[in-house]
Amino acid sequence: MMEIKGDYFNNNFHLAKMSGTNAVEEILTKTCPANLDQKLWICPIEPKHVDRVAESAISGFKTWKKLTQTERNNYLKEYQKQLIKRRDEIAKAISYETGKPLWEAYTEADSVINKIDVTINDSLPKIKTETYENISQNTNGYVYYKPIGPCLIIGPFNFPCHLANGQITSCLIAGNSIIFKPSEKTIYSAQILIECFHEAKFPIGVVNLINGTGDIAQRLLEISEIKGVYFTGSKETAERITKITYKDFTKLVALEMGGKNTSIVHEDAHFDFAIRELINASFLSAGQRCTSNSKIAIHYKIKDKFIEKFHEIAKKLIIDHPIEHDKEPFMGPLIDERSLENYLTFMGMAKREGHEEIMRGKALTKKFRGHYVSPSIHFTEKLNPKSLFLNTEIFGPNCLILPYKEIEEAIEIANFGEYGLATSVFTKSKDIFDKCVQEVNSGLLNLNKGSIGASAKLPFGGIKNSGNYRPAGSVTITSCVYPMASIETANVEKEKVDLTQIKGMNN
Ligand code: NAD
Ligand code: SIN
Repeated sequence: MMEIKGDYFNNNFHLAKMSGTNAVEEILTKTCPANLDQKLWICPIEPKHVDRVAESAISGFKTWKKLTQTERNNYLKEYQKQLIKRRDEIAKAISYETGKPLWEAYTEADSVINKIDVTINDSLPKIKTETYENISQNTNGYVYYKPIGPCLIIGPFNFPCHLANGQITSCLIAGNSIIFKPSEKTIYSAQILIECFHEAKFPIGVVNLINGTGDIAQRLLEISEIKGVYFTGSKETAERITKITYKDFTKLVALEMGGKNTSIVHEDAHFDFAIRELINASFLSAGQRCTSNSKIAIHYKIKDKFIEKFHEIAKKLIIDHPIEHDKEPFMGPLIDERSLENYLTFMGMAKREGHEEIMRGKALTKKFRGHYVSPSIHFTEKLNPKSLFLNTEIFGPNCLILPYKEIEEAIEIANFGEYGLATSVFTKSKDIFDKCVQEVNSGLLNLNKGSIGASAKLPFGGIKNSGNYRPAGSVTITSCVYPMASIETANVEKEKVDLTQIKGMNN
């Protein structure tokens, strides 16, 4: 069993009581999605810790914001050293909690480690003090980027460390204190990050952790001293968040939500390259990425060949336990029973809505009992605005293929629906890609690269119901500060001032 240490505030873990007097009312338990007979942890949830965590972050902000940039950078570098020491543990925790293959969990652990360098080298310069010389006589203009206060980071399950870590490090380096509320499905992975902060000996109250479901997050959202909210998760949860935060104009709210992402494969595309990228983009992480590809707009001339090859490869993918397997798997299980049921429901729905079933996603029986499913591939001739299958983020390994003749039709497929996160185009034609840059409405647009695998060096966020124009990635830092504009007159002692010359004054 993984040891849960509890919530973290005032630089200590606080584990609430699970039995006897003053025992908590809610206890979360976690089983491994790849082996339902393996209990991973139990975790008490203590709503009374909400205020204590907030107080800790409020007091931590007062000390942290006064540190020099070099001091803050050094703390983060120390955190990075601790992460490097715990790399194996981080990867294993992610694998067991999410069901991601270990090789993939290592890529997440490495992203967490590398993010510190990216934050210091690439993000920090974006909030450097700006100078505008001689905006008038003897007067310079400056912009100081100031921290906003204690910040709440609400994380999703699918990248339990990497996504929250990006927001946490951006908030911290800019001078804010943080409270991390990880997904209730991945509490142990999150705890390791906090242990690394603890070992790095951050000043008291700067880093805090609280465990719980959405109710705990909702209580924190009501606290007026919390000034920043950085959410990654579903559109439905984001709606619940904004029902609280809209009342508080002093809160900066950054929302990273879902996607229903399209790849356009043009007739001139490098065929095998596109197949490889799209197998990965559609089915890696069992389709549980916000950037997962779920629609392919295929040029009609290569449609049959593409479907045949795509199907052939999809059938060969190894789906198995992320760690305890004979052969390294491509993907593991879905996160929980609800996701599995949801995925299977959408399979039935696809059929009822008349989409052609090329490969139906099914629940799989494996050596270990788990939420394993096979990938699915469907084909449909036309966009149907009434189709739920076409409109909903399913968050499983699914892909719907639609044909097009003219690039305008492919762009219509990409722009269809409520989301606008990630789009890919496979072509050798610069004109086709330039047209997509002009007309596709999404936060990410890749050329000859699948929609997944965002770069930490670039902005990462969507439009429409995928995000609220405060992207994560390299630019999160710009949403962790506010600009203080300053007009500064130098050498005033040399100025001769004639008070009788003030305009519009009786002398
Ligand atoms: P989720 O919305 O169910 O949960 C996300 C977090 O919100 C969890 O910590 C959860 O406890 C918390 N939460 C739940 N109810 C809440 C409430 N009422 N108020 C405040 N917080 C609440 O999402 P998930 O299932 O963990 O993750 C999958 C979703 O996240 C997908 O929609 C996916 O597309 C999206 N996602 C988006 C990005 C992105 O960068 N755009 C990245 C990863 C995942
Ligand atoms: C995600 O955040 O869900 C996906 C990240 C990526 O693969 O780009």
